[in-house]
Order: sequence, then C-alpha cells, then structure tokens
Amino acid sequence: MTIPQRRPILAANWKMNMTLAEGGAFVKELLARSLPAGVEVVICPPFTLLHLLGEKLQGTSLKLGAQNMYFEEAGAFTGEVSPLMLKDAGAHYVILGHSERRAHFKEEDSLVGKKVGAALEHGLSPILCVGETLEERKEGKTLEVVERQLAGGLAAVPRERAGNMVIAYEPVWAIGSGQAATGGDAREVSAFIRRLYGDQFGREAESSLRVQYGGSVKGDNIRDFTGYPEIDGALVGGASLKADSWHAILQAVGQQISAP
Ligand code: 13P
Repeated sequence: MTIPQRRPILAANWKMNMTLAEGGAFVKELLARSLPAGVEVVICPPFTLLHLLGEKLQGTSLKLGAQNMYFEEAGAFTGEVSPLMLKDAGAHYVILGHSERRAHFKEEDSLVGKKVGAALEHGLSPILCVGETLEERKEGKTLEVVERQLAGGLAAVPRERAGNMVIAYEPVWAIGSGQAATGGDAREVSAFIRRLYGDQFGREAESSLRVQYGGSVKGDNIRDFTGYPEIDGALVGGASLKADSWHAILQAVGQQISAP
C-alpha cells in the first residue's frame, strides 16, 4: 500500500479532560520521547489549557489546536471564544463541527460553516468533522449525510484558502465505543470526501486536502487506516489522554511512513 505524499496529521482531541497539572505533565512526558519526523502532531486541549500548552509547545514540533470557537471576533457573546483569542493563545488548528457539539449543543451545518469560514479568515486551519450515526449508516445514508455536512461546513471557504483544510471522518457510532470502522469503510468515505472537495475547489485543492479518520483509534489499529492513500492521519479521543497510548499511535505511523 502506498503512503500519501501529504504529511500525515495526528490530532489529540482531549475533549473535556485534563487539568493544568495533568496537561503539563503529559506534554513533559511526550517531549521526553522521540517523536517521528514527517508526522504532524497536534494537541487539542480544553480552552483553559491552551495558553499554558501554547507556551510549552513553542519551539517544539508539536502544534496546538482548540476544540471549538465562535465565528465573531469579539463582543457580547457570553461564554464564547473567538478566533483571535485562539491565535493569541498559540493555536494553529481548531476542531469544528465535532459530533458531540452537533449532538449536545445543537450545532447545525450552517453554524459550522460560519465557524469554518471565520477560522480560515484568521489563519487558523479548521479540522472539520463529519460522520453519520449508526441509524443513518443502517439506512444506507452515510454518503448522503457526509455530503450534506460538507456542503454546509464548506459553504464559506474561499477557493484561495481551500489548501488549509483538514476534514475528519468520524462515524458517530465508532466514537468512544471501542468499535472502529474498518479501514475499507473509512477509505470509501474518505475517497468520497476527496472527490466532493475536488469538485468544489479543484483538483489541486483536493490533492492537498488531508482527511483524517476518527473513532476508537489506538496504536494497534491506526495503520488499518493510514495504510490507505486516501487517509492522512487520525483524530483521536480516548487513546490521546495518556502519553503512552498516544505515543504508540505516533510511533506506529512514524514506522509506517519510514518503511521502504
Ligand atoms: P475516541 O478516539 O475516544 O473514539 O474519540 C474519537 C473522537 O471523537 C475524536 O474527535
């Protein structure tokens, strides 16, 4: 299986976990180990840890990402955090449209689209999440759902910024369930995402687009996904919370891309 030319991107989504002390200790432990060259590693902690980790990651190969943001720059939006604030704290990436935000906080495609547009406008690279529920998969609606989420999520992306996107395919039923999708299923949807992206923004943008798989990824199954040229990495929840299990994932991909 050939590995894509694009740089693989592995992102840790810590969700609502980690205190300042825990996050600091994690980064210290991770940086004490050898990290694979050629793999982009992103840590996405809760907002409260962004500034601290932004400082700790400075001058390292690790990048910082946030898990959400609002699309306005500033103003009377109690409880929200703006793209300018994320940049100020040192973030390069921002996860948008995660299924937990869609399910628990009623985020709709139109809102996700505004956030994606605002992130790009401010020089943040969005990690736009899409994916079907189990019910939708059983009804054979996977591609239809992903297409709808992409149409909304990408509505405000200007062509000249289409090279800065990451899209994460995260089937909802695979998140936190211990039951990952098969590599073949993830490949099919990733290829579909690429094709739609190319239709909208051109083949050059399609070839630079990085598509991640997310959902119960661990050190021992990551290569089932990254072995396919359509899949450029993973967005990882549970297994990103311990330096050991996270490092196992980084190592697995590092070995895979350095293998002849
Ligand atoms: P798990 O890796 O815990 O299944 O979570 C996946 C996820 O939601 C990453 O955004």
